[in-house]
Amino acid sequence: MTAVPVLLDVDTGVDDALAILFAVAHPGIHLLGISCVAGNAALPQVIQNTLTVLDAAGAGDVPVAGGAHRPLINPARDASHVHGSDGLGGIVLPPTSRQTHTLDGAEVGAIELMRRILLASAEPVTIVALAPQTNLALLLRAHPEVSEKIERVLFMGGSASVGNATAVAEFNVWHDPEAAAIVLDSGVKTFMYGLDVFNRVAVPFDKAVALQSSSRTAERVAGQLIAHRTGIGAGKEPVYTGLIGDAGALCALVDPEGLRTETLPVFVELAGTSRGQTVVDRRVYPGEDSMHGLRETTGVTEVALEVDAQRYVDLYLSTIARLG
Ligand code: RIB
Ligand code: CA
Repeated sequence: MTAVPVLLDVDTGVDDALAILFAVAHPGIHLLGISCVAGNAALPQVIQNTLTVLDAAGAGDVPVAGGAHRPLINPARDASHVHGSDGLGGIVLPPTSRQTHTLDGAEVGAIELMRRILLASAEPVTIVALAPQTNLALLLRAHPEVSEKIERVLFMGGSASVGNATAVAEFNVWHDPEAAAIVLDSGVKTFMYGLDVFNRVAVPFDKAVALQSSSRTAERVAGQLIAHRTGIGAGKEPVYTGLIGDAGALCALVDPEGLRTETLPVFVELAGTSRGQTVVDRRVYPGEDSMHGLRETTGVTEVALEVDAQRYVDLYLSTIARLG
């Protein structure tokens, strides 16, 4: 298997952590680096969580850098009601000596790290975006020359149906709608792993509990993360979902046969009560917009619409079993 060169962009986050474990474990992924952005938690917490999870995965030297502290326009928000105040569901991981990336003794920011990794790569790099796309938007605006070194942006975000942050908007896109619009309209090839599939890939509770008794650190950590109640019940009580969340986007990367996708026009609503919605145009003949003088959608995106959930659960569990 030829490993795909990958840059991860994360807001670690319970499910970003599950994704990092998978990225380190899977032989089809060559993890070149990780850029961090504010989202599920404030940026310093996201960075710290990312470093400690890399240790839990037994990762080698993976460069990590911090990027945007807040969205382009929106104020910074967080998702502590889902991911806990520390962004990792209160799961205590051993302290890490791992540091963010430096060059000649100076801290390197995420945009510069991404730029350097992309330009230095012998082949185009897949950016897997698991967070608000603020870093990606800034990268593309500041360094458009890197576009030719991006194979595609495979992003967890958006929805062709139900929302989560709002009735129609998914958290990553809702958190920074302008950034998502910039990426979708950038001309870079995009792949949308949205809530239509994200909400389907779940591990049974008893399996999550059993993982916590594993002799392997990564499996124990994964079991705790999966068992963290990331759902919000009708009475606002935490409920078990078992979702592998962001990690599903990496399953989509290494096993695209587990999905049904369509290439469709997608644009991000930036105004009104549906701000942050990804409007996925599934009409057979979308041309009517021009007849009504409405906005023409520029970017088309490969959109994941259905998933073989059990296939991805099995893939996830068998992959992290490879870690110590
Ligand atoms: O809507 C789910 C997404 O928002 C996931 O990436 C989760 O980690 C949060 O960032
Ligand atoms: Ca995330």
